[in-house]
Amino acid sequence: MKNKIEHINQAIKHYYAQNKVSKDLVEAILYSVDAGGKRIRPLLLLEMLQGFGLMLTEAHYQVAAGLEMIHTGSLIHDDLPAMDDDDYRRGQLTNHKKFDEATAILAGDSLFLDPFTLLANADLAADIKVRLIAELSAASGSYGMVAGQMLDIKGEKSLLSLTDIAKIHANKTGRLLTFPFVAAGIIAELSDLSLAKLRQAGALVGLAFQVRDDILDVTASFAELGKTPQKDQKTFKSTYPSLLGLNESYAVLEDSLDQAQSIFQKLSTEEEFDKTKIDKMLERLRLHA
Ligand code: IPE
Ligand code: IPE
Ligand code: MG
Ligand code: MG
Ligand code: MG
Repeated sequence: MKNKIEHINQAIKHYYAQNKVSKDLVEAILYSVDAGGKRIRPLLLLEMLQGFGLMLTEAHYQVAAGLEMIHTGSLIHDDLPAMDDDDYRRGQLTNHKKFDEATAILAGDSLFLDPFTLLANADLAADIKVRLIAELSAASGSYGMVAGQMLDIKGEKSLLSLTDIAKIHANKTGRLLTFPFVAAGIIAELSDLSLAKLRQAGALVGLAFQVRDDILDVTASFAELGKTPQKDQKTFKSTYPSLLGLNESYAVLEDSLDQAQSIFQKLSTEEEFDKTKIDKMLERLRLHA
C-alpha cells in the first residue's frame, strides 16, 4: 500500500514536472498535494482493479492520480474563508493561509481541470477514457461534489432534516467516493448491471465516509485529524451527530459499511471479484464508540 501511495504521488508530480507557465501556481498545488492525506479514493480504485484481476498499469495510476487531484482541489476550496474558513489541513496551514486566497482559488481550479488532460492522454482504450472522463466530471461538478458543497453552504443557515443532510453528503462526498468503484468497473469492462451494483456500493461507502468525518469532528484530536477539531459544533453545522447523536451516527456508519460489504460479497461470486483488500479497507473505516 505504501508503494501504491508513492506511485500515485509520482503520477501527480510527473504531471506538473514539465510545467513552466507559472512556478507559483505549481508550488501552491504541490504544497497541498505533498501534505499527504490518506489517499483513500485512489487506493480504493487500485484495490478494486486488482480485485477484478487486472495488472496495474501506469494509466490506472493516472486515473487514480486524477481523482486525488480533484479531491485535493475540493479541500483547498472547502477551507477558503468564504467556505469553511479553516486554518489547518493535512497537518499544515491551509493553502490560502500559506499563500493567499487568489493563489488557493487558482490552485483549486487547476486541480479540477488538470485531471482531464491526464485522463485523456492515458494509455487506455478511447471508449473507456470517454466514459471515465464523463463519470469523473459528473462526480465533481454540478451533478456531484460542487453541487453538494453548494447545498452544504446554503444549509448552514437552517436546521436541516436527515433527508437534507443525506442529500448533501451523497453529493459533496458520496459522488467522488463512488467514482473509484464505478471507474474500476468501467476499466474492467463489466456489465451495466454490475456497474449499477458498484455505484450502489460506492454511495454507501461515501455516506459512511462523511458520517465518519462528522463523528471524528466531535471525537478526534488535531493530531489525529490534521485539521481543527470540533469545527462543526462551533459553527452549529447540521451533521449526523448533531441530528442523531453519536450513538446513532456510529450505527449509520456500521450499517452503511455492512451493506456495502454485502454487495461486494455478491460480486465476488458473480464477477469473480476478490474482495479481500477492499474488505480490509472498509474494515478500517469502522469506528467504535
Ligand atoms: C476529507 O476527506 C473531506 C471529506 C470528504 C470528508 P479525507 O478524509 O479523505 O481527507 P484526506 O485526503 O485524508 O486529507
Ligand atoms: C468536505 O466536507 C467535503 C468536500 C467536498 C471537501 P467537510 O467540510 O466536512 O470536510 P472537512 O471536515 O473540512 O475535511
Ligand atoms: Mg465543508
Ligand atoms: Mg470543511
Ligand atoms: Mg468535516
